[in-house]
Amino acid sequence: MKNAKMVKPSLVEVVTWLWRSRWVQRYNSQRDAKMYDLVARYYFGRQKLALQISSVFLKYIKSPSQSIICDRAAGTGIITEALINAGFKVRASDISKDQLLELSARFKDVEIAEDDLNGLMVGVGDGVFDGLVAVAADRFMTTNGQEIFVQEARRVLKDRGILVWPLILGEYVGKIKHGLNWQNSLSARIKLLEKNGFKILSKEFKFNGISPAAICRIIVAIKL
Ligand SMILES: C[S@@+](CC[C@H](N)C(=O)[O-])C[C@H]1O[C@@H](n2cnc3c(N)ncnc32)[C@H](O)[C@@H]1O
Repeated sequence: MKNAKMVKPSLVEVVTWLWRSRWVQRYNSQRDAKMYDLVARYYFGRQKLALQISSVFLKYIKSPSQSIICDRAAGTGIITEALINAGFKVRASDISKDQLLELSARFKDVEIAEDDLNGLMVGVGDGVFDGLVAVAADRFMTTNGQEIFVQEARRVLKDRGILVWPLILGEYVGKIKHGLNWQNSLSARIKLLEKNGFKILSKEFKFNGISPAAICRIIVAIKL
């Protein structure tokens, strides 16, 4: 499967998406999901980031066809798509049924699950994934949720499993939602990961566009 062709969203689509995602409850129809997908690929450099993430996993996981990556808050599957194209098996989850509907319509062989980043991964055993990734959903994690997310990543990853958790500039809006105790700095993220038994492998800076949603550090950590 090829990566989807990037299509420039029309001005109406961008404005409608902004309106629906910022001021109305977000991602609550399959139409929103489709619009999100167009905007994220084109304006947020998400397709480029997806390819960079799949290269990271390929660097550390030598037999992709025998390895399974868990893509949490997977949305419409932009990251999932790049992982599948790199030869990995993928389990994709999200809290939004509509995002998952769009994802499952595109990728038939992907295991899909509904789950909340702020909670436990119900029904998932210990040490089952070779890799885990979560992109552009930090603002939806509460302060306690960030801790749970990392603890769950540690639990469900195999020993020496790889966690890729990009720190995206635009996710800082979480401070408005969750308050001053909510941390999203590079040092806070590293501290959280190290405290929970991960070692940082890299934190490469990526500039995938001018939007704050396209500027990030790809933090890569290994489960010790
Ligand atoms: C900006 S999108 C990112 C989607 C995908 N990772 C990507 O990079 O294209 C954020 C996603 O997080 C999901 N989400 C929001 N709150 C969540 C939660 N509490 N648990 C799991 N997913 C959540 C949304 O439904 C949405 O699909």
